[in-house]
Amino acid sequence: MKNIAVINGPNLNMLGRREKDIYGTVSLENIRKDLEGTFSGSCRLTFFQSNREGELVEIIQEQYGKVDGIIINAGAYTHTSVAIRDALLAVAVPFVEVHLSNIYAREEFRHRSTLADKAAGVICGFGPAGYEMAVQGLLKILSA
Ligand code: DQA
Repeated sequence: MKNIAVINGPNLNMLGRREKDIYGTVSLENIRKDLEGTFSGSCRLTFFQSNREGELVEIIQEQYGKVDGIIINAGAYTHTSVAIRDALLAVAVPFVEVHLSNIYAREEFRHRSTLADKAAGVICGFGPAGYEMAVQGLLKILSA
Protein backbone atom coordinates (compact mmCIF):
# COMPACT_ATOMS: atom_id res chain seq x y z
CA MET A 1 0.00 0.00 0.00
CA LYS A 2 1.34 3.45 -0.94
CA ASN A 3 2.22 6.00 1.75
CA ILE A 4 1.18 9.57 1.10
CA ALA A 5 1.83 12.63 3.28
CA VAL A 6 -0.79 15.39 3.15
CA ILE A 7 0.92 18.60 4.26
CA ASN A 8 -0.92 21.84 5.01
CA GLY A 9 0.55 25.25 5.57
CA PRO A 10 -0.36 28.44 7.41
CA ASN A 11 -3.94 29.36 8.32
CA LEU A 12 -5.36 26.08 7.06
CA ASN A 13 -6.01 25.17 10.71
CA MET A 14 -8.61 27.98 10.50
CA LEU A 15 -10.60 26.31 7.72
CA GLY A 16 -14.32 26.37 8.44
CA ARG A 17 -13.89 29.65 10.30
CA ARG A 18 -11.71 31.79 8.02
CA GLU A 19 -13.08 33.67 4.98
CA LYS A 20 -15.92 31.19 4.50
CA ASP A 21 -16.97 32.80 1.22
CA ILE A 22 -13.59 31.79 -0.25
CA TYR A 23 -12.66 28.62 1.64
CA GLY A 24 -16.05 27.18 2.64
CA THR A 25 -17.24 25.81 5.95
CA VAL A 26 -15.45 22.45 6.16
CA SER A 27 -12.68 22.19 8.76
CA LEU A 28 -9.27 20.67 8.03
CA GLU A 29 -10.10 17.96 10.56
CA ASN A 30 -13.20 17.02 8.55
CA ILE A 31 -11.22 17.08 5.30
CA ARG A 32 -8.79 14.65 6.96
CA LYS A 33 -11.56 12.34 8.21
CA ASP A 34 -13.34 12.28 4.84
CA LEU A 35 -10.09 11.62 2.98
CA GLU A 36 -9.04 8.84 5.34
CA GLY A 37 -12.48 7.26 4.99
CA THR A 38 -12.45 7.47 1.20
CA PHE A 39 -8.98 6.00 0.80
CA SER A 40 -8.81 3.63 3.80
CA GLY A 41 -8.53 0.57 1.54
CA SER A 42 -6.16 2.02 -1.05
CA CYS A 43 -3.35 4.01 0.60
CA ARG A 44 -1.95 5.20 3.93
CA LEU A 45 -2.42 8.92 4.46
CA THR A 46 -0.55 10.92 7.09
CA PHE A 47 -1.72 14.46 7.80
CA PHE A 48 0.31 17.49 8.89
CA GLN A 49 -0.38 21.18 9.41
CA SER A 50 1.93 23.97 10.49
CA ASN A 51 1.81 27.74 10.45
CA ARG A 52 5.62 27.99 10.37
CA GLU A 53 7.78 27.79 7.26
CA GLY A 54 10.76 26.15 9.01
CA GLU A 55 8.52 23.53 10.59
CA LEU A 56 6.98 22.77 7.20
CA VAL A 57 10.50 22.31 5.79
CA GLU A 58 11.26 19.88 8.64
CA ILE A 59 8.00 17.97 8.14
CA ILE A 60 8.82 17.62 4.42
CA GLN A 61 12.41 16.52 5.15
CA GLU A 62 11.12 13.88 7.57
CA GLN A 63 9.23 12.25 4.69
CA TYR A 64 12.54 11.33 3.00
CA GLY A 65 12.56 7.58 2.35
CA LYS A 66 9.19 7.16 4.09
CA VAL A 67 6.55 8.19 1.57
CA ASP A 68 5.77 7.46 -2.06
CA GLY A 69 4.28 10.87 -2.70
CA ILE A 70 3.20 14.17 -1.13
CA ILE A 71 0.07 16.30 -1.38
CA ILE A 72 0.77 19.88 -0.34
CA ASN A 73 -1.35 22.94 0.24
CA ALA A 74 1.38 25.33 1.30
CA GLY A 75 -1.13 28.18 1.79
CA ALA A 76 0.48 31.59 1.43
CA TYR A 77 3.98 30.04 1.38
CA THR A 78 3.06 28.69 -2.07
CA HIS A 79 3.68 32.17 -3.40
CA THR A 80 6.92 32.94 -1.59
CA SER A 81 8.83 29.92 -0.32
CA VAL A 82 11.96 28.75 -2.06
CA ALA A 83 12.75 26.72 1.11
CA ILE A 84 9.60 24.61 0.76
CA ARG A 85 10.32 24.09 -2.95
CA ASP A 86 13.87 22.95 -2.12
CA ALA A 87 12.66 20.60 0.64
CA LEU A 88 10.18 18.97 -1.76
CA LEU A 89 12.93 18.52 -4.35
CA ALA A 90 15.23 17.03 -1.69
CA VAL A 91 12.66 14.38 -0.77
CA ALA A 92 12.46 13.53 -4.49
CA VAL A 93 9.01 11.94 -4.66
CA PRO A 94 6.14 13.15 -6.85
CA PHE A 95 4.03 15.85 -5.25
CA VAL A 96 0.68 17.44 -6.04
CA GLU A 97 -0.02 21.09 -5.21
CA VAL A 98 -3.56 21.71 -3.96
CA HIS A 99 -5.53 24.89 -3.29
CA LEU A 100 -9.12 25.09 -2.15
CA SER A 101 -9.66 28.33 -4.03
CA ASN A 102 -8.93 29.10 -7.67
CA ILE A 103 -5.73 31.08 -7.08
CA TYR A 104 -5.82 32.33 -10.71
CA ALA A 105 -9.17 34.04 -10.15
CA ARG A 106 -7.78 35.98 -7.18
CA GLU A 107 -5.17 38.67 -6.49
CA GLU A 108 -2.22 38.69 -8.87
CA PHE A 109 0.29 37.82 -6.14
CA ARG A 110 -1.48 34.45 -5.79
CA HIS A 111 -0.96 33.59 -9.47
CA ARG A 112 2.68 32.77 -8.87
CA SER A 113 3.74 29.50 -7.25
CA THR A 114 7.28 28.53 -6.28
CA LEU A 115 6.21 24.87 -6.44
CA ALA A 116 4.02 24.41 -9.52
CA ASP A 117 6.70 23.87 -12.17
CA LYS A 118 8.10 20.95 -10.14
CA ALA A 119 4.71 19.47 -9.21
CA ALA A 120 3.35 16.31 -10.83
CA GLY A 121 0.07 18.21 -10.95
CA VAL A 122 -1.75 21.23 -9.58
CA ILE A 123 -5.40 21.26 -8.48
CA CYS A 124 -7.20 24.43 -7.47
CA GLY A 125 -10.70 25.79 -7.18
CA PHE A 126 -12.56 22.63 -6.16
CA GLY A 127 -12.63 23.21 -2.41
CA PRO A 128 -12.08 20.13 -0.20
CA ALA A 129 -12.76 17.84 -3.18
CA GLY A 130 -9.38 18.96 -4.54
CA TYR A 131 -7.62 16.87 -1.88
CA GLU A 132 -9.49 13.77 -3.04
CA MET A 133 -8.62 14.51 -6.67
CA ALA A 134 -4.99 14.99 -5.68
CA VAL A 135 -4.80 11.59 -3.94
CA GLN A 136 -6.47 9.92 -6.94
CA GLY A 137 -4.07 11.61 -9.35
CA LEU A 138 -1.04 10.76 -7.25
CA LEU A 139 -2.07 7.10 -6.93
CA LYS A 140 -2.47 6.95 -10.69
CA ILE A 141 1.04 8.33 -11.23
CA LEU A 142 2.50 6.01 -8.59
CA SER A 143 0.92 2.92 -10.12
CA ALA A 144 2.01 3.75 -13.70
C1 DQA B 1 -4.77 28.62 -0.50
C2 DQA B 1 -4.56 29.83 -1.42
C3 DQA B 1 -3.44 30.73 -0.89
O1 DQA B 1 -3.26 31.83 -1.76
C4 DQA B 1 -3.80 31.25 0.48
O2 DQA B 1 -2.74 32.02 1.00
C5 DQA B 1 -4.18 30.16 1.44
C6 DQA B 1 -5.01 29.07 0.94
C7 DQA B 1 -5.98 27.77 -0.92
O3 DQA B 1 -6.10 26.63 -0.46
O4 DQA B 1 -6.82 28.24 -1.70
O5 DQA B 1 -3.90 30.22 2.63
O6 DQA B 1 -3.63 27.80 -0.56
